[in-house]
Amino acid sequence: MYILKEHAKLYWRDILFSIIAVVIMAGSSLWQPRLLQSVMQAIIADDQDKVVTYGIQLIILATIGLIAGVINTIFAAKVSQSIAADVRQKEYQQIQSFSFANIEKFSTGNLVVRMTNDVNQVQQLVMMILQSLTRIPILFVGAFILALITLPRLWWIVVLMVVLIVLSSQFIFKQMGKLFFKIQQLIDHTNTLAKENLQGVRVVKSFNQEENETKHFTENSDELTQVNTIIGYLFSLMIPMFMLISYLAIGATVLFVGRDVVKHPNDLAAVTSFISYLMQIFFAIMIGGMMSTFASRGFVSLARIKEVLDTKPALTYRADAPETDLSGDVSFKNVSFTYPGDDEPALKNVSFEVKSGEMIGIVGATGSGKTTLAQLIPRLYDPTIGEVAVGGTDLKNVNEKSLRAAVSFVLQRAILFSGKIADNLRQGKKNASSEDMKRAA
Ligand SMILES: Nc1ncnc2c1ncn2[C@@H]1O[C@H](COP(=O)(O)OP(=O)(O)O)[C@@H](O)[C@H]1O
Ligand SMILES: [Mg+2]
Repeated sequence: MYILKEHAKLYWRDILFSIIAVVIMAGSSLWQPRLLQSVMQAIIADDQDKVVTYGIQLIILATIGLIAGVINTIFAAKVSQSIAADVRQKEYQQIQSFSFANIEKFSTGNLVVRMTNDVNQVQQLVMMILQSLTRIPILFVGAFILALITLPRLWWIVVLMVVLIVLSSQFIFKQMGKLFFKIQQLIDHTNTLAKENLQGVRVVKSFNQEENETKHFTENSDELTQVNTIIGYLFSLMIPMFMLISYLAIGATVLFVGRDVVKHPNDLAAVTSFISYLMQIFFAIMIGGMMSTFASRGFVSLARIKEVLDTKPALTYRADAPETDLSGDVSFKNVSFTYPGDDEPALKNVSFEVKSGEMIGIVGATGSGKTTLAQLIPRLYDPTIGEVAVGGTDLKNVNEKSLRAAVSFVLQRAILFSGKIADNLRQGKKNASSEDMKRAA
């Protein structure tokens, strides 16, 4: 919520416009049945002039409501898209500051989901809040009061309908909420399975595990289908059930007004207006219920984004370290290193010194820690114990720019960024000449 508040401040003017528009829209839909009632009265009284006057007013009112609706949607879309873009950029920026350890903790795929799908969910949440949060209560309370004013005699129909719909919708939305949560878990699991299978494709193929993997995946996929089908059943049950309740309410209204129409002839004009209010109450409850179900998904995404934004980079550079030219001297003093989450150290008590201009090779069996050792020199990780120094400066006190200028590394597996090969070669030196690039290549 804090993230939304902070970003909403930037767009308070657009938010205000969208809320004003939504209030006008709700007001217009609440007032329309009353005008309709006046038209009906005029028709019953056979007063042509009044029919025309009220008719025109009704059209104007409906048009105002329509325009307000369009304005609301425009501003709501603008605000929600802007906030989503801001959050996405902020997250991206935050991830840039992450160390290897931070990224490993989240895993790359997970971070991508948090920057795409979760941001989309938040965008939809903001849109929904701006479109419905003010409108639903105004519509509900307004229609409720106006229905009671229109036909006070039939107050019990309104109350009974509200109670029935609230009770039944509460039951259904609760079930749906649970199922939506289950679906999210199953989708996460499906993604993991697919990712593992693709990443480990060599293992799968070399051990002839294709059939097993397919079976495993199919089981998960089938469960997902099952849960989705249950949600479909709930929906197909929900709509007719609500329809039944509201038609019973309409039927009761017509019945009771019709029975006493001789005693209360004015009620005839009020019937349409009363039914319209019943419908508005019905829709307010329905949309409110659906909104809370979907909103809970948005809040989950918001929490996941917050986790990224709140993560402190595991490794920071001293801001007060001066930029200096570091020599090529490299020294390790009693360095031990344990990967985050591991028990056994990958490096234990390593000490050595290399002078500028010297060239060394490090030899060892697979898994003996060669890569780990090399990663400590550009400070991709900090040693758990001991000190690594480049150019005589402990890396904990080094200036980031100076270190990057002094240390370069070639990865075991080359990664190309999108763009030209020349662009890739220029990653480390923006203004490299074509001679430089030829040499590096
Ligand atoms: N990112 C990592 N997280 C946890 N453990 C790791 C990670 N990378 C390597 N290790 C472990 O650290 C040890 C040293 O690995 P590594 O430095 O890659 O060895 P080498 O490059 O000599 O083959 C191994 O036991 C390996 O399993
Ligand atoms: Mg290695």
